[in-house]
Amino acid sequence: MKVDGIPYRTIWPAADDPGVVEIIDQRHLPHRFVIERLASADAVATAIRDMHVRGAGLIGATAGWGMYLAAREAADLPALRALGDRLKATRPTAVNLAWAVDRQLAALATVADPQERIEAARRLAMTIADEDAECCRRIGQHGLGIIREIAARKPGQPVNILTHCNAGWLAFVDHGSATGPIYAAFEAGLPVHVWVDETRPRNQGARLTAWELGQHGVPHTIIADNTGGHLMQHGLVDMAIVGADRVTYTGFVANKIGTYLKALAAADNGVPFYVALPSSTFDWVMRDGVREIPIEQRGNEEVKYMDGVTAGGAIAEVLVTPPGSPAANYAFDVTPPRLVTGLITERGVIAPVGEDTILAAFPEKRA
Ligand code: MRU
Repeated sequence: MKVDGIPYRTIWPAADDPGVVEIIDQRHLPHRFVIERLASADAVATAIRDMHVRGAGLIGATAGWGMYLAAREAADLPALRALGDRLKATRPTAVNLAWAVDRQLAALATVADPQERIEAARRLAMTIADEDAECCRRIGQHGLGIIREIAARKPGQPVNILTHCNAGWLAFVDHGSATGPIYAAFEAGLPVHVWVDETRPRNQGARLTAWELGQHGVPHTIIADNTGGHLMQHGLVDMAIVGADRVTYTGFVANKIGTYLKALAAADNGVPFYVALPSSTFDWVMRDGVREIPIEQRGNEEVKYMDGVTAGGAIAEVLVTPPGSPAANYAFDVTPPRLVTGLITERGVIAPVGEDTILAAFPEKRA
């Protein structure tokens, strides 16, 4: 997607050094556009853990590139596996992370020559990134059909779409999952307007989704997290599209904290609630999402402090709570399949959502 008119992906190999991978450091958005150079598996682990990069698809793609850098560092396969374990330990909920590391390890396990291993890891890192972008492009096309149908029912009026957190191109390699259909609709000339949940505590909606929609000229309005229910009661939301960090093969959706409450409000108001995801976000092992999906808990400072730009242009952090009050920071919640209208995947829209329909779309996973 474009930044100031220039096409970017969120991660790419540096042109001037085979030992470097470049990323957009998302901690600085929307106020500054910063490209960071990562030159070791350790630097990649830090970038994932401290959220220089974030979002399930991008975490997976970054882990893919991290394994390429790990292959350059590791003397043998056990050392490579150890670096893979370090990467996997950085964030627990987005399943794309373990998926990408394990995919690299499986491919590299049979390559004995270290130089060949490095080259194979580089090719696979590029493949993982390319597939991620292509899946999101297809998700966009499948979701476009849903938006088109809604637009046909209200000619001349915008289709109002609510989204939570950032499942945009910044959360993937390109296009985005939840934003894929929105960009596709916008490019097809359909009138769309996006309600952007701010998404406390890290404000990925207010900071990242708003920024990328703005870069592309998509009409949008940032709302405080608790606004969605009110808008739905008043007919101001035609559909919700959110992303996912892990979806069990039975249809439980782990996504940014607050997603479950939006799904409840949508069900109560008859608003279609879609989840967009590439197949790399499915968990083909876990059954009971509420009990089994590991929910990341992050530092309480993310709840207690906020940062932003001052009138003078400086980036400043402020404490918004009593200094001594404890705070809890659950990063994700789980929405059960009964609240999800459909899953928008690269293979099409899966609806209704359940084990049978998911496995029918991905029959090779039945085993
Ligand atoms: O903590 P993050 O920013 O990595 O969380 C990921 C998200 O932005 C959302 O949960 C998103 O909807 C799914 S990621 C495609």
